[in-house]
Amino acid sequence: MKICTGIAPVNIAVIKYWGKKDEKLILPMNDSISGTLSTDEMHAKTSVALSPDFTEDKLWLNGKEVSIHQPRVAVCLSELRKLAQQKKSGGDMVHWKMHICSENNFPTAAGLASSAAGYSCLVFTIAHALGLDSSQVSHIARQGSGSACRSMFGGFVRWRALPSELEGKQSDGEESEDLRRKQSEASNAEQIISEAYWGSMRVIILVVNDQAKSTSSTDGMQRTTLTSTLYTHRVHTVVPERCERMETALNEKDFATFAQLTMQDSNQFHACCLDTYPPIVYMNDTSHAVVRFVHEFNTVAGGTKVAYTFDAGPNACLYLLEDSVPLLLSTLVQYFPASSEISVPYVRGLKYSTTPS
Ligand code: PMV
Repeated sequence: MKICTGIAPVNIAVIKYWGKKDEKLILPMNDSISGTLSTDEMHAKTSVALSPDFTEDKLWLNGKEVSIHQPRVAVCLSELRKLAQQKKSGGDMVHWKMHICSENNFPTAAGLASSAAGYSCLVFTIAHALGLDSSQVSHIARQGSGSACRSMFGGFVRWRALPSELEGKQSDGEESEDLRRKQSEASNAEQIISEAYWGSMRVIILVVNDQAKSTSSTDGMQRTTLTSTLYTHRVHTVVPERCERMETALNEKDFATFAQLTMQDSNQFHACCLDTYPPIVYMNDTSHAVVRFVHEFNTVAGGTKVAYTFDAGPNACLYLLEDSVPLLLSTLVQYFPASSEISVPYVRGLKYSTTPS
């Protein structure tokens, strides 16, 4: 029997992924960029046991046995086994069944990137058990949950959409299968800024509501791509240029530009959700109060010291530099006293971060 345990981090996008070109392979409509958080506080943990004596694959999520046949879990397992066979890695273990236990130490499906950490951890840990290079399997994590491919690396990470030369019509047959394999392998994540390069970067998460969101990102994305005209403008005109400016800001450690682009991108993503028909609303009144708070804080501070960003939920993620943390936290406590909707125990100062381990 072989047993491996892995821990993987959450990532928070500063240029958002929203919308798929291919539902099954999870090929995104646009490039996205995220910061990976430290595993110190929020993480997913997966243990996998492989044995020639097991008669079937099994999966436990947060202590409860669930079906291993969920399509996205099944595809990750079969792709990892296929790759191990191709690379002649893992020996007989590729034929052994596995028992997998996975848990998150923070709320699931509340727009806090739980599926990103979860799938990245699952793929990372199994890859490790089968002797595969974990830096080469982000395209497999992507097929579990798109944004999971970015949690395979620390620092700032860019997930690339399909290059135009690989966009092609799908048809049946061997040729099409080959094209799909090439497409899948081409849309992967890579680290663009190491964790050490901008080591003073911090992320604080304000949990406004830790209940599961009402519209899943899968449903939301489908509806937005079909109905929002603002979204078409975002994908084709705004994001390509914004990703290049974001990479430059990161390389130059230009916090003001980084922060402005991050806030603008979050605002446009949520504007596209509102432009979806019927509209999707992820942010609530408290989220909007956090937006006002950040802009007021930056005005009083005399420069852009903090950036907010919101994923598919009401919870705020604040990016800031280490030296702004004390003032931000003390001002925040005054602005949102203990009786406010923000749940203070969840205010977490996080370093950004580590690769899975
Ligand atoms: O990977 P998913 O299906 O959970 O989608 C994530 C979408 C956002 O979190 C809203 C944006 C992003 O890039 O992480």
